[in-house]
Amino acid sequence: MSFTEFIKENALKADIFHPNFEEALNYLLLNGGKYFRSQLLLGVVETLDKSMLQNAYNVAMAVEMIHTYSLIHDDLPLMDNADLRRGKIATHKKYGEVDALLVGDALNSYAFYMISSANLSNDIKIKCIQILSKSAYDMVLGQALDCHFEKQNLNIDELKILHNHKTGALIAGSFEIGAVISGLKNHQKIYEIGKNLGLLFQINDDIIDVTLTSKEAGKPTNNDKFKNSFVNLIGLEKSIKIKNELINSIILDIEKFEPKLKNLVLNLIEKYLKG
Ligand code: IPE
Ligand code: IPE
Ligand code: MG
Ligand code: MG
Ligand code: MG
Repeated sequence: MSFTEFIKENALKADIFHPNFEEALNYLLLNGGKYFRSQLLLGVVETLDKSMLQNAYNVAMAVEMIHTYSLIHDDLPLMDNADLRRGKIATHKKYGEVDALLVGDALNSYAFYMISSANLSNDIKIKCIQILSKSAYDMVLGQALDCHFEKQNLNIDELKILHNHKTGALIAGSFEIGAVISGLKNHQKIYEIGKNLGLLFQINDDIIDVTLTSKEAGKPTNNDKFKNSFVNLIGLEKSIKIKNELINSIILDIEKFEPKLKNLVLNLIEKYLKG
């Protein structure tokens, strides 16, 4: 079974008499997105220990649930006030703000139920829960910085801390979880490399905000005007330069630490973070 089929098959149930909460729960989750984080996680497992791939699906779905919850909350009027997500009307616009908030809460909790129910050893499951819960916690800290310092310029080091938290942590955590499931020793090193990959991802996202139309991006663009984004702080050209430098250093780092993972990282960068 492919991962996409797995997610569909494991769509969330809400056995209550609410008219559409079950539909709301699955609305954004089943509307895909790039699956960058789960592709990273599963790509590591596929490369280092293919026999574990299907068993990793529960954990990869948990990562997508956390990510999806973060997007639903991020789009709420009290945060980024975005009406479009993954090419469709945002959850709060379709189901109302209260249900959107609650869908996010539910996805956040159920993610850890998914991991604890996985067909993996207890040791591995606890490590996955430890990494994912801390990454999701750091993501919230990043969102807190992002929202608090809207309309106030940070310096570039502060902005890196913000991006490392709000986006870097979950990407790094997904990468490390793949390594944990594959039994890779010294998996913390993968987290460190993953943080740079996450920083790269968010710099690219900041670039997308000024270079793509909302139709191309599937979400509102030109929406970061009052945000601390790389483009706002140092301009588009310099942001692209930093992005390319980061790509080179990530490739070198991964090649040095675990050459088998180089192609995975290269392919994901090529597909989603170049151009
Ligand atoms: C968007 O994440 C939010 C950021 C952290 C930049 P993605 O770009 O991975 O969104 P989807 O999952 O593909 O929709
Ligand atoms: C969101 O960052 C990061 C999250 C933790 C959700 P953005 O606000 O830049 O993400 P987009 O541009 O709305 O996808
Ligand atoms: Mg935001
Ligand atoms: Mg946003
Ligand atoms: Mg953005």
